[in-house]
Amino acid sequence: MDPTVLPRLRDLLRPDQIDVSESALDLHARGESTDAERRPDVVVYPESTEDVRRVLELAHATRTPVTPVAVNSSLEGQTVPVDAGISLDLTRMDRIVEVAAEDFLAVVQPGVTYPRLNEYLRATGLFFPVDPGAEASLGGMASTNASGTMAVRYGVMRDLVLGLEVVTATGQVVRTGGRAPKSSSGYALTQLLCGAEGTLGVITELTVRLVPRPEATMGARATFADVHGCVAYVTDLIQAGVPVARCELLDAAAIRAIRAHLGLELVEAPTVFLEFHGDADAVRRAADVALELARDHGAAAVETATDPEALAALWKARHQAYYAFVAAHPGMRNLITDLAVPVSRLAEVIDASVAAIGRLDVPGYVIGHVGDGNFHLTLMFPPDDAEAAARIDAAYGELVALTLAAGGTITGEHGVGLRKRGFVRAEHGDAVDLMWAIKDALDPAGIMNPGKKLPARTEAAV
Ligand code: LAC
Ligand code: ZN
Repeated sequence: MDPTVLPRLRDLLRPDQIDVSESALDLHARGESTDAERRPDVVVYPESTEDVRRVLELAHATRTPVTPVAVNSSLEGQTVPVDAGISLDLTRMDRIVEVAAEDFLAVVQPGVTYPRLNEYLRATGLFFPVDPGAEASLGGMASTNASGTMAVRYGVMRDLVLGLEVVTATGQVVRTGGRAPKSSSGYALTQLLCGAEGTLGVITELTVRLVPRPEATMGARATFADVHGCVAYVTDLIQAGVPVARCELLDAAAIRAIRAHLGLELVEAPTVFLEFHGDADAVRRAADVALELARDHGAAAVETATDPEALAALWKARHQAYYAFVAAHPGMRNLITDLAVPVSRLAEVIDASVAAIGRLDVPGYVIGHVGDGNFHLTLMFPPDDAEAAARIDAAYGELVALTLAAGGTITGEHGVGLRKRGFVRAEHGDAVDLMWAIKDALDPAGIMNPGKKLPARTEAAV
């Protein structure tokens, strides 16, 4: 890092906003899931948009890499400062600025987590429906275009963010979008920034849509002999247009890990968990149709639940699935995939994933937001087993090829980060050149989260 950066940061910010201690650098050197690791030169804690603006202006002038981070729960290494420089920790920008219940929206700073926002909204009868596994921050969730278990009903971050305040890579503060429920004005910069993984600028404020809490909620679950049976059922369910609010798959190994981790009583069989939102009649009707279809598909056990506490416990357990897998294999590395395909092609890609677990002979789990064609295969392997890592990489490449041939995408919700860069051109072809043109226009010095999201400029199609 340019030797003038640290003294100049000290001119711009208070001493407690700048940390070069070993522990802070270590804490900001890695994220979840990938073993990528690099310490930043300095951790900076902005407390306002003006703080961010000053830091980015300095970073641009001195060509200093900036890696934004908050909760640090991303699974693809997005928060690892691979070129060192500044780790821009936004956790102190955690104000809920405004709730406009009459307009179904809230304005928040990027460090606000979604559970905290929902806790705050409790009395309003509204909630924010994007719920990734980690207790993630809204800024990070927008940056990866996160989703979770209710995207099948309410959409993903990109659908729910109406507007942003952003500090660009050159230190300019801009507002994108607005508060109107719809707009045809300007280029869709809000949607571009959602999912940019911090490579185009820093989100300093978000205006997000809220949705009414459903009058009635009903849960249902159906177990099947195998994962294929689960997916065949879900395919029919979605194609029949049954209005599900959640539609999740957990294989038997995943349920075993969750039981061990949380002590929840669940049958250890491949299971589809459903939830329906609406008025009491509507949820009952939808659940009846869904469960009848499950029986037609030969479901072994079928049941419904309306007890709010039991439902909350179930979804809490589902949210902790990834952490349960990690806890079941202390010291092991993992690969977690995030493939998504049109629902009609889901069975073939999940079947191939299940077959890969058998062939690779490593512990593996299949879970997924199958209602929207998205699932995660998690494979565990010892950190020093290069041979297993190579076999897993090869299998991953084959699954990506199958996914793309099916019209799918390499990432439904976790983002590209570091590990998927090599697949981006295979998915997007020459559109990658447009992406680089946008990157160069918005970040001419290439300081924003370098080494993430886009493939190397010169990389040929794979
Ligand atoms: C989940 C995270 C890993 O679905 O996306 O649990
Ligand atoms: Zn997920």
